[in-house]
Amino acid sequence: MFSVTPFRLRPMRLEDLDAVMAIEGNSFPTPWPRSGYEHELTRNEHAHYQVLLGPDEQIIGYAGQWLVAGEGHISIMAVDPAWRGHGLGEMLLSALIQQAQEAGAERILLEVRTSNLTAQALYQKYQFKEVDRRPRYYRDTGEDALVMTLELNEAGVGEALRQKREALRARLIAGGKEEE
Ligand SMILES: CC(C)(COP(=O)(O)OP(=O)(O)OC[C@H]1O[C@@H](n2cnc3c(N)ncnc32)[C@H](O)[C@@H]1OP(=O)(O)O)[C@@H](O)C(=O)NCCC(=O)NCCS
Repeated sequence: MFSVTPFRLRPMRLEDLDAVMAIEGNSFPTPWPRSGYEHELTRNEHAHYQVLLGPDEQIIGYAGQWLVAGEGHISIMAVDPAWRGHGLGEMLLSALIQQAQEAGAERILLEVRTSNLTAQALYQKYQFKEVDRRPRYYRDTGEDALVMTLELNEAGVGEALRQKREALRARLIAGGKEEE
């Protein structure tokens, strides 16, 4: 699994949920309930969730996707607000993409709030394209969802992703050195 010292990813476990819920509460207008994660971790065979560990092995981010029928469907992704802006959201997204590629998926799909320009910029950086719009998808605000997809078998995508992964690795290593 993708790791650049001091950052590391590993599969999410039930005992991670206190830390996950704390970040969830600071990241979304309507946080997912703990029971939703419990269901995903124990009863959804298609669900794959990872946590991102920081220098003290503390949980500083997480992400998940459903891998089914040749598609990866990203369900969630968040970085602790104190750790944003350092390439860690990219690290999570890159790990999800790699996981989908290894599972033989043809595409990755996700929904994102129209107002969430930060996440949209991240997805665009990784060549996700807007393909659809789901009106009033989010019940809390009545906001639309943009549907974005990344076609993994499209010409040039594999190489572009490989280059991004290398650039990200260099960014994370340089960031680590700056902090020393
Ligand atoms: C979206 C999120 C995961 C990004 O995490 P992050 O660690 O801050 O992002 P990174 O530092 O890896 O940034 C990667 C790219 O995202 C985009 N981005 C990140 N922060 C941004 C900001 N404040 N404004 C605009 N674009 C931004 C940029 O394209 C950036 O690339 P760059 O550094 O080359 O400019 C984080 O903001 C978050 O947890 N938000 C709340 C939860 C959420 O919205 N999740 C996604 C929807 S499910």
